[in-house]
Amino acid sequence: MRVLVAGATGVIGHPLVGALRARGHEVTALVRTAARASAVDADAVVVADALDREALSAAVSAARPEVVVHQMSALRLLGDDPAGAFALTARLRTEGTAHLAAAARAAGARRLVAQSIAFATAPAAVLVLDEDARLYVDAPDPGWAATVRAVADLERQVTATDGGLVLRYGTLYGRGTAYARTGSTAQRVLAGRLPLPGDGPGITSFLHVADAVGATVAAVESTTTGVLNITDDDPAPAALWLPHYAHVLGAPPPRRIPASLAPRLLGWYPTHQLTTAHGASNTRARTELGWKPGRPSWREGLGRE
Ligand SMILES: NC(=O)c1ccc[n+]([C@@H]2O[C@H](COP(=O)([O-])OP(=O)(O)OC[C@H]3O[C@@H](n4cnc5c(N)ncnc54)[C@H](OP(=O)(O)O)[C@@H]3O)[C@@H](O)[C@H]2O)c1
Repeated sequence: MRVLVAGATGVIGHPLVGALRARGHEVTALVRTAARASAVDADAVVVADALDREALSAAVSAARPEVVVHQMSALRLLGDDPAGAFALTARLRTEGTAHLAAAARAAGARRLVAQSIAFATAPAAVLVLDEDARLYVDAPDPGWAATVRAVADLERQVTATDGGLVLRYGTLYGRGTAYARTGSTAQRVLAGRLPLPGDGPGITSFLHVADAVGATVAAVESTTTGVLNITDDDPAPAALWLPHYAHVLGAPPPRRIPASLAPRLLGWYPTHQLTTAHGASNTRARTELGWKPGRPSWREGLGRE
């Protein structure tokens, strides 16, 4: 199949191009600037900023894709400019998705597969949630609420598109991610700056980058539409994964702090992740996509690369 990957230089996009080609697909990489063209090993490269509607439309139509994959975010800028990274990522989820969906339609593509996140759900009675759970669009933190509203907007647009499929990836670990040994979360743990608030009951569903890539290849090759959680089989409370992660990294065991101090010491999102977040079930992806994670548990690999 002819596949266009937008975000082809990214943590998922880059290995995805190789994985799709290995399956015999003809892959065009969409890169933001000509300077990034040499960073990808694709059958063809087109250049456009996704926020430039006309340039994107011309680039996508030149590729004549049957399937378009959206892997764009600006989260790589998180370390230098968190507010800017979230604002730009929100624009890529809203405007960027609108531009890409329109360009895909105009080019005659029959399928749009887009990256979303499995940790945008609101707290609920069950600890591990499926795709019907409510998104936390009214989170008490204005920044997170804005992020989740942009996620909801992306999901609305993609599911309204013929052949649209949203992949809600779990918290990514592995090469290039924040949880890699050189990543920002690892650095925080190594410096003893990620303590465990209270009993650490917040649940995280992790996903190795290789499984994000594998699920996306399966999505490209399937006809399934809608929204699917792509997570490992082992949703875990912070009380379990954070000490394990610190140990594997060779960091000191995380200090315990009273939960009431966490928002001031850690900020809103880390506090939410460690105390109130819920996990995500991959049951639907198993049945509707025929996919299962090659790394069923974070216990095998988190912090090892
Ligand atoms: N996805 C998640 O679950 C999540 C959540 C929180 C944090 N993170 C962290 O974020 C990092 C990256 O994850 P990711 O795969 O989402 O992102 P990424 O590796 O930063 O990849 C994003 C892709 O989007 C492209 N892009 C950015 N702006 C664009 C624009 N205006 N037009 C066209 N393309 C554009 C980038 O191109 P350039 O190379 O040219 O910039 C890049 O190819 C990891 O460290 C991960 O741990 C991820």
